[in-house]
Amino acid sequence: MTISTRTLGTTGPVTSALGLGLMGMSDLYGRSDDIESIVTIRAALDAGVTLLDSGDFYGVGHNELLLREALAGRDRESVVVSVKFGILRGPDGGWNGVDTRPAAIKNALAYTLRRIGTDYVDIYRPARLDPNVPIEDTVGALAELVDAGYIRHIGLSEVGADTLRRAHAVHPISDLQIEYSLISRGIEASILPAARELGIGVTAYGVLSRGLISGHWSPDRSGDFRSSLPRFGGEHLERNLALVESLREIAEARGASVAQAAIAWVLAQGDDIVPLVGARTRERLAESLGALDLTLDAADLAAIERAVPTDAASGDRYDARQMSILDSER
Ligand SMILES: NC(=O)c1ccc[n+]([C@@H]2O[C@H](COP(=O)([O-])OP(=O)(O)OC[C@H]3O[C@@H](n4cnc5c(N)ncnc54)[C@H](OP(=O)(O)O)[C@@H]3O)[C@@H](O)[C@H]2O)c1
Repeated sequence: MTISTRTLGTTGPVTSALGLGLMGMSDLYGRSDDIESIVTIRAALDAGVTLLDSGDFYGVGHNELLLREALAGRDRESVVVSVKFGILRGPDGGWNGVDTRPAAIKNALAYTLRRIGTDYVDIYRPARLDPNVPIEDTVGALAELVDAGYIRHIGLSEVGADTLRRAHAVHPISDLQIEYSLISRGIEASILPAARELGIGVTAYGVLSRGLISGHWSPDRSGDFRSSLPRFGGEHLERNLALVESLREIAEARGASVAQAAIAWVLAQGDDIVPLVGARTRERLAESLGALDLTLDAADLAAIERAVPTDAASGDRYDARQMSILDSER
């Protein structure tokens, strides 16, 4: 099977038009099954997905060990491995802030390379801006790792336009990883235009809003990290699920599922955007890959935007504390 490709920014790698995000296979989204996770990653590679996104803190190393198993026996050069670092965890699984000091970056990368069983990472990125470290220092240290051949590209995550500019002035940035979906359109005002001006690609996460607009979410499904997200609770949830039903009508009229319409909408926002889907099973993967066969024309896009207008989401995408520390929300 061939999947169309996209290039991440002017300096980034060529990847499949859809990437697979591995976070939910280790953390935050309730119970997962390691065997199914590995089989799903391999099925994605077999289908032509070349971009795999992980983080050293997803399951405190567990995610990278899954990746190691999934990549065993595969052609490493044909896969674009994206890894986030900088989030501090504790032995109890707790969250202890951010550290992107140069020495911490080198230490984290050393462990990541060993866990994944590779001698380079294709895109390495701080998961969050460290308030105590100038972005120039962080990117400067990453640039040294590029020169040494340990990483191929530098990415960023959840930063705003000013940080993008400062970082890009130190070393070309391949892509910004940031939440973008029909109900999370905050990047359209200044972040996406800045990325485009600088030639930086976007790897969009949460294109299904962490499952909320997948068409498979139901109010009785809770109990994981998502219970802390405003959009998943009470009246917000009710309103957001009503939007999903409006989208369902449009999707079904085109012979597609809700998830496929939501992913295809992101794909239609520009060739510089690569959606990362969080499929954790082969079934969800197959559904999301179907979005690549759904071409939305101008009338379809207009109908979708009437059903889910720009600011239609009810509730913030993160809790109040997270919203206050996100560089991308300043
Ligand atoms: N940089 C950052 O700050 C950041 C933050 C979050 C995520 N990410 C990255 O982005 C990736 C994707 O984010 P996400 O996992 O929140 O994305 P998502 O695709 O919006 O949500 C995934 C959730 O939707 C459910 N789902 C329902 N139908 C689906 C379908 N057809 N295809 C895929 N999933 C479906 C998933 O599986 P189940 O129904 O099986 O539960 C899962 O619970 C992550 O894995 C991670 O690599 C980055």
